[in-house]
Amino acid sequence: MYNKKRYTKRILYILFVYIIIFLNLFLYSKKPTAESETDRFIDSLLVRMTTEEKLGQLTLHRGGTLLSLNSLVTDNEKELIRKGKIGAMFNVFGAEMTYELQRIAVEESRLGIPLIFAMDVVHGFKTIFPVPLAYTCSWDPQLVQKAAQIAALEATASGIHWTFAPMIDIARDPRWGRIVEGSGEDPFLASVMAETQIKGYQGDDLSDSRTLLACAKHFVAYGGAIGGRDYNTVDVSERTLQEIYLPPFKSAVKSGVGTIMSAFNEVSGIPMTANNYLLTDVLRKSWGFDGFVVSDWNAIPELIIHGVARDRAHAGELAINAGVDMDMIGFIFQKEMLDLINTGRISETLVNTAVRRVLKVKYRLGLFDDPYRYCDTRRESSEVMNEGHIEFAREAARKSIVLLKNDQKILPLRKDLKRIAVIGPLADDNDSPLGSWFAAGESRDVISVLDGIQDAVSSGTTVMYEKGCDVEGYDESSIKKAVNTAKNADAVVLVLGEHYRMSGEAKSRSSLKLPGIQQKLARQIVATDKPVIVLLMNGRPLSVTWLAENVPAILECWFLGVRMGSAVADVLFGDYNPGGKLAVSFPRTVGQVPCYYNHKNTGRPASPDKTKDTARYIDLHITPLFPFGHGLSYTQFKYNNLVITPCKIRSEGSVQIVFELENIGERTGDEVAQLYIRDIVASITRPVQALKGFKRIHLTPGEKKNVIFELPVEQCGFLDREMNYLVEPGIIEVMIGSSSADIRLKGHFEVQKS
Ligand code: NOJ
Repeated sequence: MYNKKRYTKRILYILFVYIIIFLNLFLYSKKPTAESETDRFIDSLLVRMTTEEKLGQLTLHRGGTLLSLNSLVTDNEKELIRKGKIGAMFNVFGAEMTYELQRIAVEESRLGIPLIFAMDVVHGFKTIFPVPLAYTCSWDPQLVQKAAQIAALEATASGIHWTFAPMIDIARDPRWGRIVEGSGEDPFLASVMAETQIKGYQGDDLSDSRTLLACAKHFVAYGGAIGGRDYNTVDVSERTLQEIYLPPFKSAVKSGVGTIMSAFNEVSGIPMTANNYLLTDVLRKSWGFDGFVVSDWNAIPELIIHGVARDRAHAGELAINAGVDMDMIGFIFQKEMLDLINTGRISETLVNTAVRRVLKVKYRLGLFDDPYRYCDTRRESSEVMNEGHIEFAREAARKSIVLLKNDQKILPLRKDLKRIAVIGPLADDNDSPLGSWFAAGESRDVISVLDGIQDAVSSGTTVMYEKGCDVEGYDESSIKKAVNTAKNADAVVLVLGEHYRMSGEAKSRSSLKLPGIQQKLARQIVATDKPVIVLLMNGRPLSVTWLAENVPAILECWFLGVRMGSAVADVLFGDYNPGGKLAVSFPRTVGQVPCYYNHKNTGRPASPDKTKDTARYIDLHITPLFPFGHGLSYTQFKYNNLVITPCKIRSEGSVQIVFELENIGERTGDEVAQLYIRDIVASITRPVQALKGFKRIHLTPGEKKNVIFELPVEQCGFLDREMNYLVEPGIIEVMIGSSSADIRLKGHFEVQKS
């Protein structure tokens, strides 16, 4: 009996040992996940890194200026790379140059950690596409995605791994020069454009040598600068922040953006470079962002000027504590941070977290496998600015053009007119079509408007060019000549607007008028009684009220990239029917700013009836000059038969919105059908319209198509008084429009209590 017990115990013991061995074998034989492999690799690297080397990884230097790429690559910079004091460089490019710098990092630095090379590839690398505000007017996400994809292909062939794009700041104030870099005023449209640009840049696999690491910028509310003055204080409510400025960034994080750039501005008294709540609580904890955050240019030292940091060390402490991982050009992480760690003011663990994030991105880029994979001279010569890319630049450009006005169908022009006068200072400008961020783009590759028109007309047509005046000057001496030329022409194409240096960073304007004496020129040309077509080239909405009232046709052309002239000619002469729509409202005058379609109703909505006391100016129309979503075509479209199902729904699922769109004109064309909603009665005031869907549809004359929008009811919700998201029961009005102000069909559905 005694022996039997011992025997059973022994058996049980042996069984137990076997189970343990089996479990161990099972667990350890499981394939390690990619994540754990990356972590193990990074951990093994981290333990070997000195503190200085770690800080090097958090330091971004520049190797050139925007106008002179590679010009700042000195022996000193190379020495810093050798010492492991630089983790990334921007404004360097070219397969050969980047190879050489990478070689120093990999072969001559102690640990051989590869560098990341960055650049502001914002709307094309060498094949420059329309500026972002323009290509957003295409309302064509596939087109925008393809532009980003080509930009990635070209940039990576030239050694670049990382672009400081997309710029996804909402802008409601056209005085702000950086409005040109973003997607306009609407958070829904901008969120779609953020997603598609990131998909285009990053593709499905960042380690593919043809994809580019993206950086969503500038986090956040940078476009809310008071008075439209770049870098100025931002004072927005938590609700506006959540509903207007944050959504494109949330969409970027959802799309897997690898990096985020913190903005220069403050939000609610806290500069973004030191904003723990937004950089850590919102971005990382709430949204799950797992890439790294780079400061904007010198923004860490600027915390001293903001008045929140006592000195450089304090600025560094604030930034790293808030969640900034990489210092662009401030040199604080490289210099003062060492002392902060040595004196225990900053824990090395915090630095390790930032370094881990940077190294992880380098790992995802495949740089540890092959640091030279992006430096390929063969790819550089065959893929950069090839014919296919140039042809696409033309397509992107013509799809971005917006026909603002076309009285008596004056457009398109006949190609066989005897004499066409092209007038205006921007017509033969080869620089402006490139916009303010032109990466490796060059003016000599640009087809100007004048060249495009000359190339397009028939052999019997004479194109006569007169500048008329300068963009900004006040010299009137050339106007007379221009007027005489106009008098001799059958039609006048008047090219007016801003040159590229008038928008972009630090290029705020207090006026939205045509600069200089361009309007004076326009008045005198219009007085000739010749048919006048105005082409606007500009980086922001302009208040061109006089033109809108006195000129029969206006095309908004923005800055359209290397094939601007050909695209403009395609539209002018009817080889392409314009279908773009404004991504931003055009105010009648600067005094109407901010002027945006998705405003609240107020208790006294603006009324044209001046005898009533309403939310209007006594000296101005209540509407914008051209509303958000506006854009005409050479054909006409009819909207019919709106059907909304179901008409009652609980707070989950989707509503299907179907209608028929018909081309009732004589030309093939594109219409951008827009879906807006309004929550009529809610516990929080809601905008009078909010964009929730859009589709660009191509129709031949007489062709009809059913257009279907699936609207997830979740999108009809909002943040309640406690800032919790909810979908409230009630009536949702549905508006289908050709613009926000041209609503063709209306209906509604009811959200019922769940
Ligand atoms: C400052 C700008 O704000 C930012 O958009 C840009 O990426 C950096 N400079 C680098 O050029």
